[in-house]
Amino acid sequence: MKILLASSEVHPYSKTGGLADMVGALGKALAVAGHEAAIVTPLYRGLREKFPEMRHVDWYLNLPMGQRMVTAQLWMLVPQPGLVIYFVDQPAYFDRAGIYHEDNISYLDNAERYVFFSKCVAHLARYLPWQSDLVHVHDWQVGLVPPLMLQQQREGWVKPPPTCLTIHNLAYQGVFAPEAFALTNLPEEFFGVEGVEYYGQLNCLKAGIAFADRITTVSPRYAREITTEEFGCGLDGFLRNRQGRLTGILNGVDYGDWTTTKNRFLKASYSASSIRGKERNKLELQREMGLPADRKIPLFGTVSRLAEQKGVDIQLGALEEMLYTGLQFVLLGSGSPVFERAYVDLARRFPLQVAVRIGFNEGLSHRIEAGCDFYLMPSQFEPCGLNQMYSLRYGTIPIVRAVGGLDDSVVDYIANAELADGIKFREYSAVALAKGIRKALALYQEPNLLRHYRRNAMAVDFSWERTVEDYLRVYRSALGMVTPVKA
Ligand code: ADP
Ligand code: GLC
Repeated sequence: MKILLASSEVHPYSKTGGLADMVGALGKALAVAGHEAAIVTPLYRGLREKFPEMRHVDWYLNLPMGQRMVTAQLWMLVPQPGLVIYFVDQPAYFDRAGIYHEDNISYLDNAERYVFFSKCVAHLARYLPWQSDLVHVHDWQVGLVPPLMLQQQREGWVKPPPTCLTIHNLAYQGVFAPEAFALTNLPEEFFGVEGVEYYGQLNCLKAGIAFADRITTVSPRYAREITTEEFGCGLDGFLRNRQGRLTGILNGVDYGDWTTTKNRFLKASYSASSIRGKERNKLELQREMGLPADRKIPLFGTVSRLAEQKGVDIQLGALEEMLYTGLQFVLLGSGSPVFERAYVDLARRFPLQVAVRIGFNEGLSHRIEAGCDFYLMPSQFEPCGLNQMYSLRYGTIPIVRAVGGLDDSVVDYIANAELADGIKFREYSAVALAKGIRKALALYQEPNLLRHYRRNAMAVDFSWERTVEDYLRVYRSALGMVTPVKA
């Protein structure tokens, strides 16, 4: 099959979170499985310098944005056979210091930037000589692609391919003032309750939900959760009406990148059968973070966007309660300044036990995954979550709240003692998380049991081969090749 993917971030070109990992890996996996994939993404600052092999495509986009015309150029890169990345080059929109924001303030023209990007995607879907069988868009930034394609059909595009929208996070919907709707140049009738309108505003994600032929989200449990009021972020009713088109597919892991052997970011290699290197990575990490290097001290870690979603408040509370035990904790993250300050403050108060790095650092994220004994992920909600899956592969036992993809990917002792590979708790509270940490400390005292958990964890296989089959099934159903699948 020929699949056109579109996303506002794609690893290794741009990344603020798991969206980039997922789309980059899906493109690769489709190509490896013998299909053809193209990914359209913006050309952000510095990319041409970082990837000098990028080629200019003799193709100019000139598209209406309300009353004016905006032009863009196109660049391409072929990272592997069967996969092409197209970069939309519009310097005024994308040659900026940040992707979505600077100094924690969202760019004021984000609606305009991603309406334009969505138009480029719809335009390329129609006019690229390489004609795709299906267009697969990701998150709100490209949510307008399905209605834009529908409108093109009404204006004479004879047979547009079907569309699939993947919701990576329902909490981010791309909601903008109604005036932004004019930028889409869509007829007024699209701005209704069954369309892109949401309480009088433009909702880009709802646009995709309303008009995509298939909707997927990134874990089976999250697919069920988002149809409930608790997790539906105001769109649960709208999603319930489309439940027949909605499927949950757990993300895969790119084990080429996330490996404990031959990993350029790690000092020592290790594997399930030869675990010694893990201890060396632990000591190195303790040193790198400025903590006492001692293999006997249980080391907990987190790598995360610092947003409410990630359970920052209960994590801070639980750590306050548990630090008396002598455990160490390392954090790499960035996000809300209030949360950043709270962690920095904790590290200041417990300098021998807590170390914090604010910022984005790919190498350190691998070293934390590899060096820690336990990984903390107490999310309020989690569509899929990748770090708990990386932790499992790195033999770092995840402590997770049983929601969304966290529940789908971690097995705890109560559910299955034989296959246990992590610790789960249900209630969203610091007390419940502290109890999880206590269980981890008890596990740490039982080397044989800990070894059993580690072996299970490192053996779990979330590779893309299976995941890609699930997506192909959805694509085929959209093409009418098989009957729809349900969540
Ligand atoms: P989300 O997409 O909601 O942020 P995921 O668990 O799906 O959560 O994916 C997060 C991804 O971003 C992981 O690859 C993680 O390692 C990475 N990441 C998050 N924060 C940082 C950071 N400060 N530095 C480096 N990588 C980070
Ligand atoms: C989102 C979600 C996260 C998921 C990622 C990739 O950022 O918050 O849970 O893993 O997308 O699908």
